[in-house]
Amino acid sequence: MSDYYVLDLFAGLGGFSQAFEDSERWDVTTVEISAEFDPDIQADMLDVTPTDLPDADVILAGHPCTMFSTAGNHDKWDMDAKEPTGDRAKRHVAMLFHTLGLIKALAPAYWYLENPRLSRARWLIGPPDEWVSYCQYGRDYQKNTGLWGDHAPGMTFRKCRGPGANCHKTNVEDDGTAACAPMSRDHAERSKVPYDLSDAIREACERALDGNAPRDTTVDEWVQS
Ligand SMILES: C[S@@+](CC[C@H](N)C(=O)[O-])C[C@H]1O[C@@H](n2cnc3c(N)ncnc32)[C@H](O)[C@@H]1O
Repeated sequence: MSDYYVLDLFAGLGGFSQAFEDSERWDVTTVEISAEFDPDIQADMLDVTPTDLPDADVILAGHPCTMFSTAGNHDKWDMDAKEPTGDRAKRHVAMLFHTLGLIKALAPAYWYLENPRLSRARWLIGPPDEWVSYCQYGRDYQKNTGLWGDHAPGMTFRKCRGPGANCHKTNVEDDGTAACAPMSRDHAERSKVPYDLSDAIREACERALDGNAPRDTTVDEWVQS
């Protein structure tokens, strides 16, 4: 029997929860709309209610960034009012708040909602509580990524100081214009949270839930390679 439970919303290929999946101490439930990823619960998140989901110590939510990334879909937003105008953008705004509602209703000890650091989600829910650079977690692209939520204390959030850093070949998302050569052409592969980040989150959550967390010692580590 596992010690702790984690819920991976919008699980896709399961990158966010992959280190939890590899640990015997965690039981993972994945929720995803697409059957191709073989989720535990296949559902449209907008149809999911709290009673459809198991209680969880930790919730991970990799909300789709298609409508929120500053790299595209400019015509689906009123940029001055910072409001959605297209149907799909409106749907994703509703889904973002619904996801936060589910998290509040389930009240996990810790939660992490992931989106690009400069995601338009900022317009709706404010800036991320933390952010990391994927090049600091084993990827060869920078991809600065925001993490909203109540995070377990004691984790180091590794950030790249770029531009000019040689730890990554390209930036993506922040400016939306850089070449994406090193990134996979496959969308699900590209969206996958790096294993090292999943593992850092698992470790911090486990330590805190075990009662061994250092008190309020979240660290920002800036790297200039
Ligand atoms: C950014 S990707 C998640 C990547 C994942 N966290 C990982 O690390 O592999 C977003 C996922 O949300 C799923 N998705 C999109 N709309 C959805 C909806 N309405 N309900 C549930 N899942 C949805 C997509 O199929 C996609 O797999």
